[in-house]
Amino acid sequence: MTLIHEPASSREDRVSPAARPLLPLLPMDGHTFGKRSAVTCHLKCGDACFHPVPNTTSNEYFRDIAGAGLSRRALLGGGVAAAAALVIGTSAGGGASSASAATLAARTGRTLPFTPIAPVAASVDAVTVPAGYRWSPIIRWGDPLFSKNDRFDPNAQTAELQARQFGYNNDYLDIIEGPLGLTAVLVANQEYTNENIMFPPAADAAALDEQRRIGQAAHGMAVVQLYRTRRNGPWKYLVGAPLNRRITAHTPFTFSGPAAGHELLRTQDDPTGRTALGTIGNCAGGTTPWGTVLSGEENFNQYFVSPGETPAEKRYGVGTGGDSRGWRHVDPRFDAVANPGYRNEPNRFGWIVEVDPLAPNEPPVKHTALGRFKHEGANVIVGRTGHVAAYMGDDERFDYLYKFVSKDKFKKGIGAGARKHNKSLLTAGALYVARFSGDSPAAEITGTGALPSDGAFDGTGTWVPLVVDGVSKVPGFSAAEVLVNTRLAADAVGATKMDRCEDVEPNPKSGRIYVACTNNTARGTGVNETATEVNPRNVNRDGHVIEITEAGNDATATSFGWSILLLCGDPATNPTTYFAGFPPEQVSPISCPDNVAFDSEGNLWISTDGAPSTIAYGDGLFKVPLEGPERGRVQQFLSVPVDGETCGPVIRDQQNMVYVAVQHPGENGSWAAQRSRFPDYVAPGTVANGAWGGPRPSVVQVWKG
Ligand code: FEO
Ligand code: CA
Ligand code: CA
Ligand code: CA
Repeated sequence: MTLIHEPASSREDRVSPAARPLLPLLPMDGHTFGKRSAVTCHLKCGDACFHPVPNTTSNEYFRDIAGAGLSRRALLGGGVAAAAALVIGTSAGGGASSASAATLAARTGRTLPFTPIAPVAASVDAVTVPAGYRWSPIIRWGDPLFSKNDRFDPNAQTAELQARQFGYNNDYLDIIEGPLGLTAVLVANQEYTNENIMFPPAADAAALDEQRRIGQAAHGMAVVQLYRTRRNGPWKYLVGAPLNRRITAHTPFTFSGPAAGHELLRTQDDPTGRTALGTIGNCAGGTTPWGTVLSGEENFNQYFVSPGETPAEKRYGVGTGGDSRGWRHVDPRFDAVANPGYRNEPNRFGWIVEVDPLAPNEPPVKHTALGRFKHEGANVIVGRTGHVAAYMGDDERFDYLYKFVSKDKFKKGIGAGARKHNKSLLTAGALYVARFSGDSPAAEITGTGALPSDGAFDGTGTWVPLVVDGVSKVPGFSAAEVLVNTRLAADAVGATKMDRCEDVEPNPKSGRIYVACTNNTARGTGVNETATEVNPRNVNRDGHVIEITEAGNDATATSFGWSILLLCGDPATNPTTYFAGFPPEQVSPISCPDNVAFDSEGNLWISTDGAPSTIAYGDGLFKVPLEGPERGRVQQFLSVPVDGETCGPVIRDQQNMVYVAVQHPGENGSWAAQRSRFPDYVAPGTVANGAWGGPRPSVVQVWKG
């Protein structure tokens, strides 16, 4: 085992100049839809927003609950209703002045005290942290996991090396600490690749094919052991540690659950339908109460060329327009047009996968019981009955929110027996999709964000069963068909169309669930559904956050109450924002909520993806108190470098530490004209002593000191 040197000791004072040269136009420049850059749209999402909305159903939105005999306040009970009453009655936005560092006064909690940073211009190539905090990368794209001889050199990269190095575009992140807090296992997703800035132009066809293979090896997940010499201090990673692991687009996965082995999962390479190769598009995730990590396979469709003729293929965006990276030229299973024996290969992606970071030789699992869609992630909580619930979003415009409830109960303890049992919990149970009802008259939901006369966007909802204990609840669908083509089944039961559910996570302190709806600029346009009470803004550029309270505060309930916590945006320029009733002139501007996390006090933390395109600030990380007079007070903690997205926040407030995954820094650049030098900030083009003068997606730690 070799200890690798910390990449740099103190980087916050080594930021690069903000001034950047103008970019050469890329082929996809000019087609952004109010959120991401064209490069992100193309490489991350397969231009999802430029295709027709794939959900063409006309599901009714259940607005009037008067006849349902179930009011939100009755459902929630007095305590929560009283808390809700605190937040209503303040009109949204309107005339707010710009939030400056001066108005964002320090609001120190008992832990992790900080003065919010002022918003940072989107062009700044720096990590900005609060006064009194420092940052450094823990691990960067290309850092070797197994041998120091696998040194990163972007000019001489190979697929074999990449499979032994930390992958690209880290998204989900957790740092699972040992009992003394001096050792840990880092688990990260590696969602996608930015070939335009990763590689020099390929000299010939063979070099291009090798870049494609490198890309496959840069996707997936990573497990890395860490150590430190004092609690509350920065980590270093260990080369060659026994738990270090890379999972790529080729790693064997086992299917679990009711659809495992079904003919829809079989291909010419796997006539049993029980073993898939690889995971791709791994976006958010969650660490389970039993210590494994769940990861969502999100924009998988863009990797496949397929006839795209069936209703299911169309609903999932699988068709002839795929092939965003040309993988079919090096791996025939990505081309079902030329190779019909792989027609079902796309069905083997779009799942929640589970990885046990303590079992490096155990195949990870794809859980069919949790359904197949563009899974953002999954977060698990143990319900009052002992059954566990997993909350999940489908990140596509007008798609749905889901919940899985296990058939068996969680076993306490960390022994091998309990762990083995708990690792089976996601293989059998009930899959539900959410149907929301608003409690205000339709005429009061104007699409502008103006609050209805009852003072809140709120109401009740139902978890509609799709499959229960292996039995389909959807007429015309077998259980396996529901689980493989979950979107079609959810269409059939009238699920509520949402504004792109990203992270969905229960607050471990309160049990309430927080849903980040990142945006939906198509709402209310053309033939698309107009604003509803739970998605109350047309052309929703800035997104919103929904707070859900399960009936009886039990995660296994089949009904719930909800209200909108935040309507995001910059209140200085946008009168349609809402911050749970908190004065908008005192909050940090925030746009496009994506990942969420909680600290030990139960405060919500939100990281964003898309702020540069909407409010012209860099993406960042924000704290939002949920209780008391500070409820709704959004306070910015950090900002990430130019073109970057803030992912995977981990808040260890009792140690005054925060971790984020910085994804796609400088992605609007090119090999010859890089826009970011994060995190090494050495001279452009330099490769020296493990540092490189181009951008490297990295896991960043922030500590007080
Ligand atoms: Fe990969 Fe839904 O963000
Ligand atoms: Ca209402
Ligand atoms: Ca995301
Ligand atoms: Ca999260």
